[in-house]
Amino acid sequence: MSDAGATLGLMATHYFTASSLDGFIATSEHSLDWLLKQDIDLNGPMAYTEFEKGIGALAMGASTYEWVLRNNGDQPWGYVQPTWVFTHRELPVPDGADVRFARDVTAAHTEMSAAAGELDLWVVGGGELAGQFADAGLLDEVWVQYAPVTLGSGAPLLPRELDLELLDVARNRNFMCGRYRVIRPE
Ligand SMILES: NC(=O)c1ccc[n+]([C@@H]2O[C@H](COP(=O)([O-])OP(=O)(O)OC[C@H]3O[C@@H](n4cnc5c(N)ncnc54)[C@H](OP(=O)(O)O)[C@@H]3O)[C@@H](O)[C@H]2O)c1
Repeated sequence: MSDAGATLGLMATHYFTASSLDGFIATSEHSLDWLLKQDIDLNGPMAYTEFEKGIGALAMGASTYEWVLRNNGDQPWGYVQPTWVFTHRELPVPDGADVRFARDVTAAHTEMSAAAGELDLWVVGGGELAGQFADAGLLDEVWVQYAPVTLGSGAPLLPRELDLELLDVARNRNFMCGRYRVIRPE
């Protein structure tokens, strides 16, 4: 995707996540309690509801997938989009879920783009997986909702050295939200 495509609706690849102020997206024990207790307007600025409408395929790492499975409990799978799960293991797939297992971000990105049609791609997390997309030159935007919390340690937001351009900022209740374009090296 060229830089010109780095906006919602132009088949861009977004890493959209919440983070603690000190750059962790989960505790070391994969808890999101610090996040789920925060107040957010899901229909408000830079929030999930509007973002998700433009998304045609998802990518997530094994820990994120296992968190979703644990927290879904007996609920049906919540995503309508096909989801590529990166893992070295055999993991269960809930009834009705369109889940495909992957290891190579470039191959998965090609498959995801074909499945998404005109819609965008969402790298759900974790940060290392988003970093793999960035390493391959396949990450266009980073959207972060910063919660008013520090965790001290945990799962990293994006453990890479990247230059980003700030495209937009907003406050959504407890969250400071930023949208950034990934600047690719010349
Ligand atoms: N704050 C938020 O909004 C937010 C958003 C998303 C996620 N989260 C949370 O953040 C945490 C992220 O966990 P995490 O840092 O461990 O990252 P993760 O990406 O969810 O999981 C990492 C695991 O994915 C697998 N993996 C990654 N790349 C792979 C590749 N190329 N090929 C094969 N397998 C690959 C490996 O698992 P195996 O080798 O074991 O299979 C690896 O240990 C989770 O607790 C999640 O719930 C929070």
